[in-house]
Amino acid sequence: MPATIGMKGDGFYDDHSSGQRASIESLASWIEAAAAGAHLPTQGRPFVVADYGSSEGRNSVLAMRCVIDSLRRRGATGPVCPIFSDLVTNNFNQLFRNLDEDDVMRHREGGIFPAAVGGSFYTSLLPPGSVHLGMTFNAVVWLDRLPAEPFPEFIVYMGPRSHRADVRIPAATVAAFSQQAANDLIRFLECRAAEIAPGGRLLVAQPARDHERSIGEGLYDLMHDACLALVREKRLDLAAYQRVTMPIYFRSLDEMLAPVDAAGGPLHDRFSVERAEVERFPTPFGAAYARSGDLAAYVDEYVGFAQAFTEPILRAGLEAVHGPQIVPAIYERMKLLLREAPAQYEIEYIQAAVLFARR
Ligand SMILES: C[S@@+](CC[C@H](N)C(=O)[O-])C[C@H]1O[C@@H](n2cnc3c(N)ncnc32)[C@H](O)[C@@H]1O
Repeated sequence: MPATIGMKGDGFYDDHSSGQRASIESLASWIEAAAAGAHLPTQGRPFVVADYGSSEGRNSVLAMRCVIDSLRRRGATGPVCPIFSDLVTNNFNQLFRNLDEDDVMRHREGGIFPAAVGGSFYTSLLPPGSVHLGMTFNAVVWLDRLPAEPFPEFIVYMGPRSHRADVRIPAATVAAFSQQAANDLIRFLECRAAEIAPGGRLLVAQPARDHERSIGEGLYDLMHDACLALVREKRLDLAAYQRVTMPIYFRSLDEMLAPVDAAGGPLHDRFSVERAEVERFPTPFGAAYARSGDLAAYVDEYVGFAQAFTEPILRAGLEAVHGPQIVPAIYERMKLLLREAPAQYEIEYIQAAVLFARR
């Protein structure tokens, strides 16, 4: 069973994922290059482009449209099959509504034939050699499963070095999480290597850490501090909280490249690297706050953004002990703390991206 059931549904993710949308927009030139470089299918056969971890789809449709524009610009006029894939527990109803509301996706006469596939991207999802371009945004940060090594010190693994004096990360935790993340990425790439035809492209982008900082700083500090405040007030049981760990791993660029490393990377014979970078940019709500100074709007958007991807995990971990009121109480406390000390919980989007070519 995967470590997550996906994002908060009912359109909530779509409405609270401006950070992820900005991350995809920042990759427009990468997406275009991937579509421009991918080998085309033989005359008349469809060009298959798959997005792995598409969620409810509003952001994914944006990436797909970028691919279609790029294909049309290079004179590829044949049919295109955009495949949207996510866990079986994903809100596919909203995905299909988004496809129906999009002019390009709805009009089959334009040669666009969208489809969806449910299943974990740590498994095989499509027929061998059938994909010409694979993409994944903000998704392979989710581990297949948490390592057996418990990590009670913080709400998410932030290693290898701790960013807070009050959080200790034992060496055994570092070893267990980095090994799980390494194995998961290899598994993901092995599955894609089988699906992507020789000459195809694979664009992998994920929230990351660079040499100085992790994308998790600020947001997970806020969540952790909010939970500890509720523990102090005896509204949250410490042991129950300590059992909750987000099944997320913020890779460095080096870790993303390790599977294709010439010196022994297991995927080296199947993928070469066309481009690899890590970049930082402000979140849209952080930039808006810097311009307007509207703290109330900032707090709402920041915590909504966090809620969209963390709520299912908090509910699964805490509701059995505390009932349904505990998770809303955490987000309310996050809002309170953020209003009191916005500078302490500032976040920067840090994204690592690699464009692979299938050998
Ligand atoms: C933060 S959302 C990103 C959605 C979209 N790509 C974007 O950038 O806005 C992460 C998505 O990855 C999906 N996901 C997590 N683990 C997965 C797995 N093992 N297999 C397939 N999808 C997974 C989640 O269900 C979720 O929809």
